[in-house]
Amino acid sequence: MDSNADDGAYLRRNMQNRTFFNPTTIPAEERGKQIIRMDLNECPYPPSPKAIAAMQAHADKLNRYPDGTCPQLTERLAAMTGVPARQICWGSGSTQLLKSIMEMVIAPGDHLVSPSLLWHRFHGVYETLDADVTMVDNLADGHIDIDGLMGAIGNKTRLAVLLTPNNPTGLMLDADQIRLVCDETPENVLLFIDEAYHEFAIHAGGADALEIVKDRKGPWVVSRTFSKAYALAGARLGYAYCSSEELANALRLITSTFNISAFSEVGALAALDDIEYKNFIMDSNATERGRIIDGLKELGCKPMQSVTNFVAAETGVPGDQVVARMRARGIRIGRLADAGFENYVRISMGQPSDTDACLAALKEVLEDLRR
Ligand SMILES: Cc1ncc(COP(=O)(O)O)c(C=O)c1O
Repeated sequence: MDSNADDGAYLRRNMQNRTFFNPTTIPAEERGKQIIRMDLNECPYPPSPKAIAAMQAHADKLNRYPDGTCPQLTERLAAMTGVPARQICWGSGSTQLLKSIMEMVIAPGDHLVSPSLLWHRFHGVYETLDADVTMVDNLADGHIDIDGLMGAIGNKTRLAVLLTPNNPTGLMLDADQIRLVCDETPENVLLFIDEAYHEFAIHAGGADALEIVKDRKGPWVVSRTFSKAYALAGARLGYAYCSSEELANALRLITSTFNISAFSEVGALAALDDIEYKNFIMDSNATERGRIIDGLKELGCKPMQSVTNFVAAETGVPGDQVVARMRARGIRIGRLADAGFENYVRISMGQPSDTDACLAALKEVLEDLRR
């Protein structure tokens, strides 16, 4: 039954007449088919066998609500980072946390500064918050414009958003750049750093933003996830380190107390223990990333120097057309929907055979489109 035509009038102004697209959707024609998924920056390997065993062993406890404070995992992270356990919060993926982090400081109309080229979910959250956003264009090479971002902060700014490494570029900031942002963001502005791809930055010899932001005088939150390096995207577990217990409690109030699945903590603990498996994932990712970057160059594309599990590249032809034709060949890749980046695609790393299939299909697709 169709809804009442007047229903929209009850919605907040910024929520009226909206459309919604969930990128995780598998359309009917793809269900049950062998589709190569290189569009959502997932890990192409299953979780650690130890994590799978731990979650299976926990299945008979699903009648009970789990301890959503993840006590053992929190202690582990506190010991690993030196951030007190009372300042660590849990989310249903870091996706839930990033929205909640913004919600705890931004009321409709409040001002925040953000890079314009960043994971698209951020744009969705800015819109639902009805925030007053100053989008700072990224530099021509895709890097976040740190000076521009700091220059956009004004008297009314309440939040500054930073991502390192960033999605969709895969580019990270160096330690000096992160330090500059930590020092120059005023003490009355919350600095939020999304480090969903932190482990990949470290593997590539990059900086640990959490270590640097700890010295900041003003408030900060850093979010990370078990979805990427630990191959647990389906378990939906993200976490946030906060600069104070007061911030952490505000975040907990917004995320709700029943947001974590019973599989999350046991799976994540076992995944953390399986260092060998994580190293395998990180090494194989770096190998496939090198192959994709080289392959893209051979095909006349200009890939960005990603350190993550995805690569963005300029193709010379419209990205949406490349995506559609790849999809018709059973390979899902992404594109950049941002102004100035219309000819870019974003390819998530797969297993070696996925890389072969992707590059072979891309060769045909690009030859076709460039004709
Ligand atoms: C930059 C960034 N942050 C956060 C996330 C969310 O990850 P999750 O909700 O699985 O923790 C993603 C996912 O792709 C991402 O690219």
